Order: sequence, then C-alpha cells, then structure tokens
Amino acid sequence: MKLIHVVGARPNFMKAAPVWNAIIRMTDFDQMLVHTGQHYDNLMSDIFFKELQIPVPDYNLNIGSDTHARQTAAIMIKFEELIIDLKPNLVLVYGDVNSTVAAAMVCSKLLIPFAHVEAGLRSFDRRMPEEINRIITDQLATILFTPSEDGNINLLKEGVPKSKINFVGNVMIDTLVELLPGAHKPILFNNIKLYVLVTLHRPSNVDEPDSLRSIIQNLNEISNSIPVLFPVHPRTKNMITINNLDFEKNDNLHLIDPLGYLDFLGLMKNSTAVITDSGGIQEETTYLGIPCITVRENTERPITITLGTNQLIGKEYHKIPELIKNIINGKKIKRTVPPLWDGKASERIAEVLITYSKDQH
Ligand code: UD1
Repeated sequence: MKLIHVVGARPNFMKAAPVWNAIIRMTDFDQMLVHTGQHYDNLMSDIFFKELQIPVPDYNLNIGSDTHARQTAAIMIKFEELIIDLKPNLVLVYGDVNSTVAAAMVCSKLLIPFAHVEAGLRSFDRRMPEEINRIITDQLATILFTPSEDGNINLLKEGVPKSKINFVGNVMIDTLVELLPGAHKPILFNNIKLYVLVTLHRPSNVDEPDSLRSIIQNLNEISNSIPVLFPVHPRTKNMITINNLDFEKNDNLHLIDPLGYLDFLGLMKNSTAVITDSGGIQEETTYLGIPCITVRENTERPITITLGTNQLIGKEYHKIPELIKNIINGKKIKRTVPPLWDGKASERIAEVLITYSKDQH
C-alpha cells in the first residue's frame, strides 16, 4: 500500500511523526511525506523534522503565507498535480489547518481515499477558520481517527457513518510521551524556578489591537510577581510591531523566538502555569497536570476542561492576574489523563490501516 502524509503547519508535525514511525515499525507500506510549506521558517518548521525523527519531506510545495483563499487554493493546485502523478492508495491528513482541508478536498475530487487524524473536534464556533476546516475535512474523509469520545459523538450527529469512525486516542500525546524524558529547560532559563509560560497566535487575540494591548498590560502586571516566558509566534510579532505595542522594560519578562519541540516541552513540563490560545497546548498541559489558562471563548477540546487542567477565560484578560495569584498560592488543580491518551494512539491507527489495506484486496 502506498501512503502519503500531508503536513503544513507547526502543529501537524508532532501529530504526523508518531504515525509515520508506527507505520514503519508495524507494516511494509510504502510511505511518503508531503510538506505544503504553509509554515516555512526554520523555527516554525525545519527544526521539528530533526527533533521528531521524521525524514526531510519527499516533496515541499513551498506555498508560504497568504490569505485563506489564496493559501488554500495554491495548496490544492500543487497537491493535485503531485498526487495525480504519485497515485497513492491512501492519504493521511492531520489536525485542522488550511493544509489539511486543501488536501482533503483534492483527494475527494480525485476519488483518492483519505484518513483524517484528529477528527471530530468541534468548538461550534464558525468564526474560527479551523472549525470550517474540521467540518469539511470530516465530511469528506474515508476513515476518521478521533482523539476523544466527544469526537465520535460530534461526528455521528453530523451524519458520519459509524463504520468510518475509529476512537484511537491522541497522537500528539504519543509524541509527548516518547520525547518527555529528553526534554529539558533551555540552559538560559535554568535559574528561573517558578514561571508562567505564554503562547498566543489566534487572530481573535492578536489581530485586534485592543485585545493585544490588554493582554500585554496583564502580562506586564503578572510579571511583577512571577517571571513570564513568552516565545512569540511570527503573526503575534508582526502585530506587536504594526500596532506599535510594547512590553514594559522588566527583567521578569522574557520575549523570545519560537522554540523547537524539546525546548518548549522542557519549559512546559516545569512551568507553574501556562497561558495560551493554542489547541494542542491545552491537551499537553492536561497530560502534564500543569494549570492552563486558555484565552479563548470556546474550545474544540472540552475534555481538557472536564477531565484536565484547562479553564477558559475568553476575552476577560483582566482575570489573568487573579488566576495566576491563586495558582502561585498553591490552589490545587485536579488532573485526570483522558482515556487512550497513553502513547499508543499511532499504533492503533496503524492497526486500522493494516485492516483497511487487507480489505482492499
Ligand atoms: C496556523 C493555523 C493554526 C495553527 C497555527 C500554529 C490555519 C488556518 N491556521 O496559524 O490553526 O494553530 O498555524 O502555528 O491553518 N509566518 C511566518 N513564518 C512561518 C509561518 C507564518 O512568518 O513559517 C507568519 C506570516 O506572516 C503569516 C502569519 O505568520 O502571514 C500567519 O501564518 P499562517 O500559516 O497563515 O497562520 P498561523 O497564524 O500560523
């Protein structure tokens, strides 16, 4: 069987890596890696391939940044040419980025079966581009792999046949489980014991100057009581510059470039709390038992709230200092690891694909 994995943006890489490696271990499938080039900076892309032990992509479509329509369309045009040539038996797409939905639409129209890893997640907020990407990808997919049971429920409600849905667990946690022992705080921060780790990149937070200004004010405020480490996403960096915003000059505020996987994981596992608007980080903090304050109005990963360490504050950024104070004062936070977040999701995916391949003959 000939498989093609499609990745494009940073959160795809840690999802594809364990699946790629499980397929090598468990099957004799022929596999290839296609990078759309949606993310292209070394720190947003190349570094992950080295750290996650996946090969350099066989093909890079070099699409880069653009508006949603132009970026998605450009990926579709180049990806269509490529797979007409390569004739895979199955394509694997990951997560909810523009590269995911672009590849999904191309496969469907060419009648090439494809599997969606991380299917069924819903924020029920169609203002989020990722929600559109999820709904379309799941409607079109041949095989759907869900990370949590809420995913199965959402898919069934949307009319996806039960026979297509496989609850396998969370592949991002596979990568975390495997690489956690080797993840250490960057030496630069060795002397900082307690700290808050921050990541922000959602348009709803960083593209609106008033929101971004308010977030910065609140980060300034908490940095008076605890160090703040903030690896800044390129989108956020651009918006800070364009809007002439700035942080206080304060030794407790550390604005740094985006980090590789191992450095970031090292910082996350030792942190006092995390403030984020990322999807994956809500899951990783739940697994690690680190309190997570999510600056979003909703989440497509509700299990991180019901079982995990996550809480949503929407745009009520003024709540951040009080919440951080409670965490520093040791207010206990419950933690349960959700079912099948056990490091073996990729093996379950490989098993399903082995059965699928046998059924094709
Ligand atoms: C994308 C995903 C988002 C994911 C995030 C992780 C979509 C719709 N969004 O958002 O779901 O959480 O990736 O990072 O697919 N840029 C660079 N270098 C890069 C990549 C981007 O400088 O390597 C800058 C460009 O100015 C670009 C901006 O970041 O315009 C946004 O990049 P883009 O891929 O459009 O979206 P993200 O915000 O990264």
